[in-house]
Amino acid sequence: DSFVQCFSSNTTNPNNNTTSPQVIFTLNDPSYQPILQSSIRNLIFSQNSTPKPILIITPHNIFQIQSAITCSKNQGLQVKVRSGGHDYERLSYTTSYHYHHHEPFIIIDLFNLRSITINLEDETAWVESGAIVGELYHAIAKASSVHGFPAGSCHTMGIGGHVSGGGFGTIFRKYGLAADNIVDATMVDSEGRILNRTLMGEDLFWAIRGGGGSSFGVITSWKVKIVRVPPTVTIFDISKSVVLEEDDVDDDASIVSFMKWQNIANKLPGEIFLHAVMGIRSVNVNGSSTSRTVITISFTGLYLGEADKAVSLVNENFAELGLQRNNCKQMSWIQSVLYFSGFSYKSNIDVLLQRNQTSQSFKAKSDYVTKPIPVSGLKGLWKKMKMMMLFEGIKNPPVLILTPYGGRMSEISESETPFPHRRGIIYGVQYYVSWDLNNETGKYLMMMRRLYEYMTPYVSKNPRAAYLNYRDLDLGVNRDKNTSYEEARSSWGSKYFKNNFERLVKVKADVDPDNFFWNEQSIPPQ
Ligand code: FDA
Repeated sequence: DSFVQCFSSNTTNPNNNTTSPQVIFTLNDPSYQPILQSSIRNLIFSQNSTPKPILIITPHNIFQIQSAITCSKNQGLQVKVRSGGHDYERLSYTTSYHYHHHEPFIIIDLFNLRSITINLEDETAWVESGAIVGELYHAIAKASSVHGFPAGSCHTMGIGGHVSGGGFGTIFRKYGLAADNIVDATMVDSEGRILNRTLMGEDLFWAIRGGGGSSFGVITSWKVKIVRVPPTVTIFDISKSVVLEEDDVDDDASIVSFMKWQNIANKLPGEIFLHAVMGIRSVNVNGSSTSRTVITISFTGLYLGEADKAVSLVNENFAELGLQRNNCKQMSWIQSVLYFSGFSYKSNIDVLLQRNQTSQSFKAKSDYVTKPIPVSGLKGLWKKMKMMMLFEGIKNPPVLILTPYGGRMSEISESETPFPHRRGIIYGVQYYVSWDLNNETGKYLMMMRRLYEYMTPYVSKNPRAAYLNYRDLDLGVNRDKNTSYEEARSSWGSKYFKNNFERLVKVKADVDPDNFFWNEQSIPPQ
């Protein structure tokens, strides 16, 4: 009640009157539950026992965000900010702290703030944080057939969280991250001030482009640089499989291809993106009860140009893939967006506006590879995956999604933005697993930790780097609001940010010294 009173008395803007749409939803409001659920992607965090916000605020304008911050501060409430709800570890809508130990919190959910204004003259767009990535792609494609934006593949991600944590996708080798293509932003800070780039200053503007927005305030919109894409792009998909039971797999075509891929993936020109997805499955031999374990590596490519050029470029560098013209499909950039988002590339582009997406219980972890994994390491990994599947009851085995770096990513210095994974990275790894039954959660989480452990010798070291947007609380959490800089740096801070962590801490100390915006992995002010 006192929050509601504060909120309405803080209405400095005429839009904040009672006849405007409902903005505050309390626990007993019939819309509370549907709003809370609406963008939860990870079902592990959608249980009866999951801590719930005491209020959800759904602002329709920036002034309501100001009021929400001022009143939360007055009432001693923690604030969670949600744009698309895709946070792997739930930090935008709940907490990992034990029920009796967490502070009461509210969610500021930005889904009503999603306007997009494209300016083709200066090749920029203003996008509000609550827009999903698909809405931005859609708006660009409606305005121009030769512009695009380098953000991630999943169209339901929120612009707010995705961009503030980095944001890579199929054209990032040519144009860099979403965060590398931001020219201005608006936000509300812990004092309730509305800031743009000039008012926030270059340090804070630096910090929110890859350092995670939630440590610094509520980002309400981004001004993005839209990029020029050719009218025709090419997509191809080629899978290689290896049967693990066969004695000598060293010469197997899929191993040979993978070893070659590791050597060329980050050296190819920026126009080509060629990623690999590695999975394992069990197949029955000719309908008999004998089963075999098969590893499949799917190579999927996007080339910014026509098919003939894609074929010659790939064959010059990676003949082992065996790419032919008939493996290729030519399409527009927006059709490639549909394809990588899991739709048919022939779908109506309006599907990119759909916010609903199947939620699952899942766990992911990330790594960076700077030296090719040797064949022995690869075979050991496959053996491990096989044991998990056959003997540990892992019905849905994990997949490894391997994303090549290089190109534009190697040209941008490690300190240009807080996202430090640049030159020297061959590829990023995402380990991903999903499962159906909640009582299996513990088993799957343990399995992922063991897989990660196995990979230690083959991935980056000191620190073992990780991608902030693939948030992983296994790396460490702030014990409480007063967790020290050293603790945070040595557990998760240096992994996500390397040496940029220090500058993030300085910015935090400057803009939010009382640590109002804090969570399990927020930047500490000291
Ligand atoms: P969500 O709303 O959960 O926010 C994530 C974090 O950002 C939270 O800490 C939140 O508080 C904070 N935040 C959100 N909005 C904010 C705002 N306006 N101001 C301040 N802080 C804010 N990544 C990638 O780079 N490339 C990819 O292709 C994919 N693909 C992908 C697929 C799927 C199915 C999932 C679930 C995730 C990805 N990701 C990804 C990871 C994705 O980039 C990451 O989860 C983003 O944080 C999602 O942003 P949302 O706004 O949706 O999340």
